[in-house]
Amino acid sequence: MSFNEQFPCVVVLDGNKEIMTRRDIIRKIVIGSTTVLVTPALLESCTKQEDPVGNSGNTGNNKITLDLTDPAYSVLNASGGSLVYLNLIIANTGTSFVALAKACTHAGCTINYDNGAKNFPCPCHGSKFSLTGSVVNGPATVALKSYSVSRTGDILTVNL
Ligand code: FES
Repeated sequence: MSFNEQFPCVVVLDGNKEIMTRRDIIRKIVIGSTTVLVTPALLESCTKQEDPVGNSGNTGNNKITLDLTDPAYSVLNASGGSLVYLNLIIANTGTSFVALAKACTHAGCTINYDNGAKNFPCPCHGSKFSLTGSVVNGPATVALKSYSVSRTGDILTVNL
């Protein structure tokens, strides 16, 4: 008869009495320690915010810059012009520039810009968002994240 069989431990967890061997106790401690070590890494990956602009483009110091003389971005020189850049939609409203997260908060479709209505409709189920990103029409219920935009000469800067 082994030591464990001769001298089992009685452990009370949550008011429940449990007869355990030393091996059982060590196993639970090891599993518990692993959980403690792994959990912070899992929580960090779960709570990490999505990078609003992805990992490419002219990013840095929490901003992106677009040179409006570049044909790729020159559509923004015209009132009503808009483009999708990385995870953003950027629009020239005629009086200002607006940058919103491009993914509709309902189901993730990429929104458009409607300069006549001065809003951002979603082509999938009809949600509409204001120039500040708030919901104008559902089914979306959550506002789009909005980013401040400034223009200096030909350089448009979106502050993330
Ligand atoms: S994904 Fe935009 S309204 Fe459904």
